[in-house]
Order: sequence, then structure tokens, then C-alpha cells
Amino acid sequence: MTQRTIHPPERPFRADMTPPGDKSLSHRALIFAAMADGASQVDHLGTGADVQSTKRAVERLGVEARDNRLVSPGVGSWRAPAEAIDCGNSGTTLRLLAGALAGQPFTATLTGDRSLRRRPMRRLVAPLAALGGSIELSGETAPLHVGGVDGLVGAAIEIPIASAQVRSAFQLAALQAAGESSIRSPHGFRDHTERWLIAWGLGEWHDSGAFRIHPGPVPPGRYQLPGDTSSAAFLWASAAISRGSRVETTDVSLNPGRIGFLQILEAMGAEVGAEVTRSLGGDPIGTVWVTGRGLVGTDVAGPVAVAALDELPLVAVLAAYAEGITTVRDAAELRAKESDRIASTVEMIRALGGGAEATEDGFAVVGTGWLESGRVDSEGDHRIAMAAAVAATGATGPIHIDGADAADVSWPGFFDTLEATWSSR
Ligand code: S3P
Repeated sequence: MTQRTIHPPERPFRADMTPPGDKSLSHRALIFAAMADGASQVDHLGTGADVQSTKRAVERLGVEARDNRLVSPGVGSWRAPAEAIDCGNSGTTLRLLAGALAGQPFTATLTGDRSLRRRPMRRLVAPLAALGGSIELSGETAPLHVGGVDGLVGAAIEIPIASAQVRSAFQLAALQAAGESSIRSPHGFRDHTERWLIAWGLGEWHDSGAFRIHPGPVPPGRYQLPGDTSSAAFLWASAAISRGSRVETTDVSLNPGRIGFLQILEAMGAEVGAEVTRSLGGDPIGTVWVTGRGLVGTDVAGPVAVAALDELPLVAVLAAYAEGITTVRDAAELRAKESDRIASTVEMIRALGGGAEATEDGFAVVGTGWLESGRVDSEGDHRIAMAAAVAATGATGPIHIDGADAADVSWPGFFDTLEATWSSR
């Protein structure tokens, strides 16, 4: 377990940057390229360990992956993996692959590290079983045994959670079914998969709010991925805490399901601007700039909580520096992340002298306008390790992070980039 000490910046900063390739889009690009028959290229692939987990997993299925080029025989000719596929820390790898593999004639076992083997997987069973897919697990968690069936059929389902991962798993399986399928869920999820399917003529939204999947082959192609919005968010938050500081991030995903945090930053008083500059398969990408000018508390609930789910630990940090109380509700899913993120977020704020309380589906933070020097345990969760570093922005002294290496899951080199950002003018 590595430790890292982060010293607060000495003065306001101004920085421009593009973060490493988007993690959600990297997983999707690799899996779609692996499902396609032929050669594909993925530019600006995410650099974190999670993306490597997906790359290694598709190699186990017979896909050649060299640097950013993938050559696949197509999902219908994937080979049975000799051993269990280790998805490491990555829930997206495991859940999306479970969908892609559910209709295979062979059985594959998907597993992961201790954190991933604690996360809920039974949510995949009903959606994939509706298509005739097979998925077996004991209790609620991985390892999962998927596939070993003689083809899939179309199905219309509704799921009770706004989970992009479960939706995508269903959709990847439905592409391989003998008939049309559709899925409905609550709102707020990142609809990257849906937008890409629409661009290929493999899906469409229906007036009822259901997304229809037309089965068919995914084409091979070239993916020019943007920077990771959820990574950029750490730098936006730091600028928002430091009055007069400004961070501009170019070429990041502006998918509506990814930018709930920008709405929250604005509601808390930061100056926020965004401009769409290009798209990838109908998925908007652009520039975001955030300037700090003091913070006030806010209430986060409903679809915005879903669209900012990965950024909610940062909301707690901002809230500590704000005037007034901030509440986060409708975010029970946080308990199913790399750590119990309601508990680990509250612990982080308290370890730094702030006032925070956990609730059943979120938390409340009392803004005091400051945090103090302290020691935070990442609990093996990359977003907690990085949020703790951002908390140093306005702190009265250094912040020590135990388990800082967890950041490598999504952004190796994050702490150096944060410090470089703080010394840019
Ligand atoms: C992701 C979806 C979200 C998000 C996760 C990545 C994805 O999870 O929290 O970090 O790439 O589809 P859920 O779909 O489980 O809410």
C-alpha cells in the first residue's frame, strides 16, 4: 500500500489540459472492437488498470490487441477462455463482458479482485435470462459463469435501477439475439452505448422511453476517444475550491449522463462554461472551463445524482468548503462501488476535520469553509484517493493518503498532474 502526501497549493492557479482517454468509452470501444469481425483502432485509450483489464479479457477470447489496434474474428467466433477471466477492480469490464458472453456456446468464468468480488452481480441475471442467456453465481457476487447456451431470443424488459452497466450488458447480448429487444430504466444513466448503437443503425429510442435493439453485427472501425470527464472532474473541483483559480479541459465527453457534476458545480456557485466541439457516434465531446468564486451548499437528488454518481465524493469535498449544508439523496448505488462510497466519503471528510453524516441513500455535509491536515485511507477506492488529494486545495496543511496507489485504476500519474496544475499560472 503506497502513501502520498499532498501539500496545498500556495496561490491560485490557471491550467489547460486534456485528461487521459475516457474510461467508460475505452471499455466500450474495446468490447465493440472485439465483437466486430475485422481490424479496429482505438486512439487515446484510457491509461488506467481498469482499461487494461478489459484489453486483457478480450485477448483471452481470441482477439489480437497490439497497442491501439485490435483484430478480432468477431463475437460469433470468440474462443472459450482456458481459465477464469480476471477483471481486476473493474465492474464495467465484468458486467459488460457478462452481457457480450451470455449467449456463447461455451461457458466463461468472470471474476475479479477482492473489491469486485464484493459488488452486487445478481442484477445481471434477470435481464440476461430474459434473452435466454445463462448466468450463474452463488449468492450475490462474482465469480460468474456465463454462456453455454444455444443462442438468444429477443426480449422486452424494464430494470429498477438507472445502471448504464446493466443496460449495456443487456444491449450487448441483445445484439446477438434472434429477434428485437427493448429495455427501460429510470433516467440519468450515461447513454454512450445507446448513442453508438443508434449511429450504427442497431438501436433507436421509442416514444415510450424504451430503447430498442436491432440485432446485427457491430462494424469494425476507428474510435477517437475523448479525455475522461470523470478524471477532469477532480481538476474542476480543485479550481472551484480555490477562489480565482481556473481549469480548462479540452476534448472531454459531454454525454448528458456524465455532466451532472457540472450542474452541481454551478449550483454551488462556481463559474462553469462548456462548448461542444465534436462528436463520436452521436456522443458529444467538448471543452469545459471552471473558475472558483466561492461555494454555497446545495441539495442533490434524482437524475442529477445518477449523472454525477462517480463525482459524489467530490461533492462532499466541495460541500465542506461551502457555506451552508449540502445533502445528497437517491444515491444508494454508492454503496455498491469500489468501496461503500457513502461510508468512505463520510470517513474522508471527518478525517479532515469536516462535519459529515451518512444517510441510507446519500450523505449530508455541514460546510465550515475549511478542512484541516489529516490522514485519509483510500479503502482501495481510486475515487476516494483522488478526492482526498483535491481536498488539500484549501486545507490548512498537508493531507496524507494511505493506499494512494488505488488512483492507478483510472488515472496513473494523477497526483503529479494535480500538483503540476497547482503550479501553473
Ligand atoms: C459506468 C457506469 C456507472 C459508473 C461506472 C461506469 C459505465 O455504473 O458508476 O463508474 O461505464 O457504464 P452503473 O451503471 O453501475 O451505475
